[in-house]
Amino acid sequence: MSMPIRPPFVTLRTEIAGIPVAQLAEQFGTPLYVYDAAWMLRRLEDLRQFDCVRYAMKACSNLAVLALLRRHGALVDCVSAGEVRRALKAGYPAHGDPPPIVYTADIFDRESLALVVEQNIHVNCGSADMIRQYGALAPGREITLRINPGFGHGHHLKTNTGGERSKHGIWHEQLGPCLEEAARWGLRVTGLHMHIGSGTDLEHLAQVCQAMEKAVLQAEPGIRSISGGGGLPIPYTPEQQYVDLEEYYRLWDNTRRRLQEALGHPIRLEIEPGRYIVAEAGYLVSEIRAVKRQGSMLFYLVDAGFNNLARPILYGAYHPISLCPADGDLDRPEVEAIVGGPLCESGDIFTQQEGGFVVPRRLPQAKVGDWLILERTGAYGFVMGSNYNSKPLAAEVLVQDGQARLVRRRQTFEDLIREEILPE
Ligand code: LLP
Repeated sequence: MSMPIRPPFVTLRTEIAGIPVAQLAEQFGTPLYVYDAAWMLRRLEDLRQFDCVRYAMKACSNLAVLALLRRHGALVDCVSAGEVRRALKAGYPAHGDPPPIVYTADIFDRESLALVVEQNIHVNCGSADMIRQYGALAPGREITLRINPGFGHGHHLKTNTGGERSKHGIWHEQLGPCLEEAARWGLRVTGLHMHIGSGTDLEHLAQVCQAMEKAVLQAEPGIRSISGGGGLPIPYTPEQQYVDLEEYYRLWDNTRRRLQEALGHPIRLEIEPGRYIVAEAGYLVSEIRAVKRQGSMLFYLVDAGFNNLARPILYGAYHPISLCPADGDLDRPEVEAIVGGPLCESGDIFTQQEGGFVVPRRLPQAKVGDWLILERTGAYGFVMGSNYNSKPLAAEVLVQDGQARLVRRRQTFEDLIREEILPE
């Protein structure tokens, strides 16, 4: 068994990555995303056995994070023209072997199609129409295909990306016709990819290996890479577990070896994690602005809302919460409190379950001015933020080697209205 090192669960904290919370909040303001580079690199290191770790940047796409992961050997997966441009901006070359940047999606919008053709970005097609549209403009190039194996699994229905009610990937029974479509345009299919969902388990991941084996044997002989997609979970609660990485690798490596034997040439084994690399490295620091009672319930109202972190309202997702007392007094008894944000929506609650059911959490007693930290928010945190209620996007700070650097300044009101046009 090889289980990753667990960062501790705490309800009181005075620092993040060695920097006092008070200093971070005073220097950069709140709400503030803080990323601990060391944890990202540790997570990347955990996956070194795989030939290629392709970071799914949708989880956290700040340029500084991309540049850090690039310098440490991660390749990158993108889902839009904007993400491809981010990868280029962060210093990834447009093409190479293996492709440094892959565009994985179910459609091309017009901008992304033009960009991948012009920059010769590797595409991983999730529909026959993508093959057709790409082939018409870039005949002769290599592509990979994202296959929907007919089943999926995820931490939530909304993160299940397989099965016949999922829009993702090429339906496994359509692989034959899609290979013919590719051949019609002279496109060479050099790899297959499966991503069945986010936050999945070893049992389901093992099924993907079997489905992959079957699909590759149908698609050979040109297949030179297989990708198991992302989906590696992290524990958001002390009870939740990591996937046994040794076992996960062994399953995929066995699949790869059998395929190499059958095909008679080497096959590259890729993995495409997002959450696993960045979730535990991220903290959303907020300030408590009101403490009030509603009947028997105690509320801590903070200056961050679902405009900063949408996972609780979207999925009923649980994030660990800690408190940093502003007066430095760590002797705070625990109480039951509900944590909410500033938005004009009753769903703007961080302590909610699936279906919007609001639940109090055992937390240290707090006062206005204390900092409240939403933890393990590095993945699908900042990137799913919005300007709802005309709230500016938060600032982002990356801490590395004891240095906290601003990697995104807080939006201003001017930024907020920059694209708006007031008619004469
Ligand atoms: N590859 C593909 C093609 C994907 O669609 C995704 C995630 C990943 C890799 C990375 O999955 P991960 O390793 O991060 O589980 N907003 C949701 C998660 C949506 C995931 C979308 N696709 C959440 O907050 O849980």
